[in-house]
Amino acid sequence: MEKKRFYITTPIYYPSGNAHIGHAYCTTLCDVFARYKRMRHFETFFLTGTDEHGLKIEKNAKAAGKDPQTYVDEIVAKFKDLWRVMEISNDDFIRTTDPKHIAVVQKVFSHMIKNDDVYLGSYKGWYCIPCESFWTDTQVGENHLCPDCGREVVKEEEPCLFFKTQKYLPELNTFFDKEKSVYPIGRKNEMINNFIKPGLEDLCVSRTSFKWGVPINEYEGHVSYVWVDALFNYVSALNYLTDDDSLYKKFWESEESEIIHVIGADITRFHTIYWPEFLTSMGLRLPDRVFVHGLLMMKDGKMSKSKGNVVSPYPLIERYGVDALRYYLTREIIFGNDGQFTPEQFIDRINMDLVNNYGNLVSRTISMIEKYFDGVIPSYLKDINEQDNEIDSLIKLTIDKYISELDDLKITEGFIDVMNLISRANKYIEETTPWALAKDESKKENLKSVLAHLARVLFVSTKLLEPVLVKKVKEVYEELNLTNEEADFDNILNEHLLDNKKVKKGAILFPRLDVNKEVEYVKSLMTNK
Ligand code: MSP
Repeated sequence: MEKKRFYITTPIYYPSGNAHIGHAYCTTLCDVFARYKRMRHFETFFLTGTDEHGLKIEKNAKAAGKDPQTYVDEIVAKFKDLWRVMEISNDDFIRTTDPKHIAVVQKVFSHMIKNDDVYLGSYKGWYCIPCESFWTDTQVGENHLCPDCGREVVKEEEPCLFFKTQKYLPELNTFFDKEKSVYPIGRKNEMINNFIKPGLEDLCVSRTSFKWGVPINEYEGHVSYVWVDALFNYVSALNYLTDDDSLYKKFWESEESEIIHVIGADITRFHTIYWPEFLTSMGLRLPDRVFVHGLLMMKDGKMSKSKGNVVSPYPLIERYGVDALRYYLTREIIFGNDGQFTPEQFIDRINMDLVNNYGNLVSRTISMIEKYFDGVIPSYLKDINEQDNEIDSLIKLTIDKYISELDDLKITEGFIDVMNLISRANKYIEETTPWALAKDESKKENLKSVLAHLARVLFVSTKLLEPVLVKKVKEVYEELNLTNEEADFDNILNEHLLDNKKVKKGAILFPRLDVNKEVEYVKSLMTNK
């Protein structure tokens, strides 16, 4: 059964350094899904935010000579600015230092304590500060390296509260038994084989060796482990446990809401093991899907400030436009796999898909309608040219496939299908040779049909690209002389929508990029950092 509401979240990012293209990757994908669902008139809530407590932030703030709150305030402002520039349409931005969030975390602890889900003990083991995660002797090995990020871990010994992970194992297993709860399947198996099967250890959920966290009322000197604090953002943002919890009821509690967390592979364990257990402890429903995307890597591995290979999205947006960057992120890296950012692929992707394919179809179609029909789109005819039926069916097939792929979070596939439709239309121009048809009065109907079909492909493909190319599609709707109401998704199957519309040629959508020059430019951004 299709659910009528849609709740999608990004991870909340650590404001411990500036936002880079890796953060932009995850946020853009979520934005595309949210815009797609809104376009289809689903009631949608899209959340992002920042994860501001913990040892790492406390240390970074100290190193910068600032108190933690001032330190995070400055970086959070930068994250918000990037999302504005990237046209991210989040409905809210949650900060874990928001009082309403802090109140939820404190109530969660009160509940867990009362419910006998936690006990006081003492932690002795290893801790990875950048990942904010605990590890055992065997996990860190002889060299004491974090199994997740490969960095050195530190020894910790302190009193803390432990969460009883075995208590909710049956519910956790049920969650894992659901087909797409954790996706792709490889990530699910990794969790089962590496963590669930060997036996879950109880999780340390409070810290006593530093201060920058949510204080636990019942235990003096204890602050919440940053991951318990962080995960509850997904419900605190919806005003969970407040008097005005209508958003929570609508988007979390109600089974009519589809709940999707999109996360990077680095944080799968927290979202697929501990989060379902915490939710069960609170008596709350579990998310429908945790979708694990791959990481965007550089040629020399993971992006990191110390390697000097961090790419900032700003200069890319300034030079190529926000739509080009959004498109590259959505299309180039297969959603679910790791991807690599290279300047060559970045420039090629824009040239191939946006300049040569889509941009070309826009300009050829509009120019020919102006040239041969004084700018008036001919009425949609059927089955005049040999290829008309094929174009007709491909339009319908593409719409169907796109919907089922995007509903299933197969974002890359969905946009590949749109590009295939556009390529087919460009090939149709070569096959039907409108310039030759125009010379022969007896071929008038053929020419009309070609241009009506091209205009229709243009509208349909533009509509389907709308969640990604948020700015450029508006220019195309203007060229097609469509109002917002006319360009509504519900009109996508109306073959006569464009009949007799007077087109208006606009500026070039995506100027062709000189590969050598632009590759050099993008490279300079990477080494200048
Ligand atoms: N604060 C935690 C998440 C808490 S969620 C309740 C955290 N923050 S993070 O800033 O380190 O990373 C969050 C997410 O950013 C990753 O899971 C991933 O989605 C995204 N990315 C960060 N670097 C990335 C790449 N290089 N490539 C792709 N995504 C990246 O972990």
